[in-house]
Amino acid sequence: MTTVGIDAVEIHTGKLRLDLAETFAPEMGDAPEKYTKGLGLHASSFPDTYEDIVTMGANAAHRLMKRKGLEPDDIGRIDVATESAFDHSKPVSTYIAGCLEQVFESDFHHANKGERKFACVAGTQSIDDAYNWIKAGRNRGRAALVIATDTALYARDDPGEATQGAGAVAMLIDEDPNLVELSTEQGYGSADETDFLKPQQQFPSVDGKRSVNVYLARMREALIDYERVGGKIHADDFRLGPFHTPFPGMVRKAAVLAYRHITRDTEIEEELAEEIGRQPRSEAFDSDEAYLEALSEYTDALKETERYQAWYGRTIDPTLTLSRHVGNWYTGSVHVARVSGLKALAEAGEDAVGERLLVGSYGSGAQAEIHVETVQEDWREEIEAIDIDERLESRYELTFEEYEDVHDAHNFDEESAVEEFTVPEAEFAFDGWGRMGERKYRYVE
Ligand code: CAA
Repeated sequence: MTTVGIDAVEIHTGKLRLDLAETFAPEMGDAPEKYTKGLGLHASSFPDTYEDIVTMGANAAHRLMKRKGLEPDDIGRIDVATESAFDHSKPVSTYIAGCLEQVFESDFHHANKGERKFACVAGTQSIDDAYNWIKAGRNRGRAALVIATDTALYARDDPGEATQGAGAVAMLIDEDPNLVELSTEQGYGSADETDFLKPQQQFPSVDGKRSVNVYLARMREALIDYERVGGKIHADDFRLGPFHTPFPGMVRKAAVLAYRHITRDTEIEEELAEEIGRQPRSEAFDSDEAYLEALSEYTDALKETERYQAWYGRTIDPTLTLSRHVGNWYTGSVHVARVSGLKALAEAGEDAVGERLLVGSYGSGAQAEIHVETVQEDWREEIEAIDIDERLESRYELTFEEYEDVHDAHNFDEESAVEEFTVPEAEFAFDGWGRMGERKYRYVE
């Protein structure tokens, strides 16, 4: 039977860097530890003035196609996932295809293009669409290009400003994939929520604290729904758990709840019982309040156990490394987490072939998806080809005043004359406005 999954990945980071502890925290009157320890973030990536969701997506896709030796005729589908779109009708994938056609001799007229919207989960939904398209045999031997691209900016002085970021992840979905195989089993947790939304506005309206609880509630539902089809999850079944990472502290909160859930009624719960007791069961309590309090005490104790910390250090922590240095990339975030985790395994020289990943995607509004991926034979070569470390290293370091200018430059409601901070080279760049109000792009040699 044909295997289908992610064959290769390229990552483009916004070319500017804001140091959260050193530069941002003092201006906000915050302790640096709120960022480095509480949120788990050191820096955010920002787009230079000539970068946007199209240039970042096109640059990632271009590098991916070049590295894999692909021509437009090899691609039958281009789907862009974003929550930063600037056009209500013309999809970002058409702009990106237009960019790519500047550098390839042939065109993408044969390719089905679209744009997926469901906050940050849309990148995973686009992968699912590509998987279904290939599995249904409609791809005529062609692969799908899925691009998750976002400028995750919040209004100035919104609490979300601490978690901003910008970048794109391009992924090739194909038969006989080199990186990970996808599976048919998925679990969902989906509900009409108003925790984070952008009704006809560029920057989100966010109920930050509530958004954290909605993330946890939907993830829990998705985990339970996954178990209905995939069977009971055991804590040691998975080598990595890449989760949507708006900030690493969010995943830290989710991970302990997930661990509590998957260890209930297992030998791990029994082993831990001597140290912290068994997990509270609702039937043993007179009120929900008493039960929830006991559950919260158990969870706090669980977090401190060596057994949990070893699991967290092995399964979750490696997936957060890149996120700590780039911030939230919305649709790209869980895909950055996957690369981050696999990169750590490659650096440690692990033979991860056949290992499984438990992938938790999430979008506000709100929907979580849990699915499983299996690491493929040629994974290491694919991961080692990604030059994200060099790209992060070469970002331009912003002062706080420059950060304010950059934020204005990307604010649709501000007139800004700020100059670019870096010089575009071998990449796509914004090139002004067309006669119908469209954004135009050119490839800079
Ligand atoms: N030392 C150590 N830790 C410190 C500290 C210090 N000096 N000062 C604060 N902290 C800790 C806090 O205790 C807190 O950690 P806990 O939650 O574990 O207690 C953490 O740092 C953050 O501090 P605050 O809660 O005070 O921060 P805040 O109120 O300014 O805002 C936020 C936090 C609500 C997450 C805000 O950044 C926000 O609104 N972010 C955008 C929304 C978001 O990302 N939500 C996540 C779920 S929704 C989602 O996932 C979709 C998406 O991508 C947006």
